[in-house]
Amino acid sequence: MSTIVAPSLFAADFLNLERDIDMLNRSEADWIHLDVMDGVFVPNLSFGFALTGLLRKVTQKPLDTHLMIVQPEKFIDEVAATGSTFMNVHYEACPHLHRVVQQIRQKGMKPAVTLNPHTPVCVLEEILPELDMVLLMSVNPGFGGQQFIESSLEKVARLKEMIVRRDLSTLIEVDGGVNLETGKKLVEAGANVLVAGSYVFNADDPLRAIQALKAL
Ligand code: DX5
Ligand code: ZN
Repeated sequence: MSTIVAPSLFAADFLNLERDIDMLNRSEADWIHLDVMDGVFVPNLSFGFALTGLLRKVTQKPLDTHLMIVQPEKFIDEVAATGSTFMNVHYEACPHLHRVVQQIRQKGMKPAVTLNPHTPVCVLEEILPELDMVLLMSVNPGFGGQQFIESSLEKVARLKEMIVRRDLSTLIEVDGGVNLETGKKLVEAGANVLVAGSYVFNADDPLRAIQALKAL
């Protein structure tokens, strides 16, 4: 399976959003990654459903919504209404994670669980068979353009081992500081999906940057 590439819209030029979405539509990007931040779970705000709800009108690419918010279960209906394929909730934000995962699936979306850099993959031992994807943060969430945390590579390998041992097909997605160099190492360690914000949108040629990530 070739590497799935999900550019993060958070790094787009918000004053030229239509232009940037058009670029993504013409690109080899597989999905569009949407970073929703609440200023509580993470020390930043991004955008909300007023914006994400409009995206379906301008793109057919699957949407991958990453909720960096407390109590994400309050917004399952809103995320479903955007037509999002994946709904990513943080392990650290959900004391009743099993219930939230079931609710996401009942609404017709694919449940994914996100881990902050300090959270070990072993906490997924029980929930793993219920998930379509695990998102490993390779920076502390809240901001784009941060430096990749190298120990994420071992974490990807440990998660891959858990998935293979149980004969599951759970996707491994990685988010934060992804570029060609870190992306290559991540794919070698077992990552299936690369989220990239600044690497794509700060590139002189974003279409080629996406193409290069796809080829990893
Ligand atoms: C971080 C977000 C990321 C971020 C990635 O809180 O979840 O998706 O926008 O940005 P880069 O690729 O610049 O690290
Ligand atoms: Zn993200």
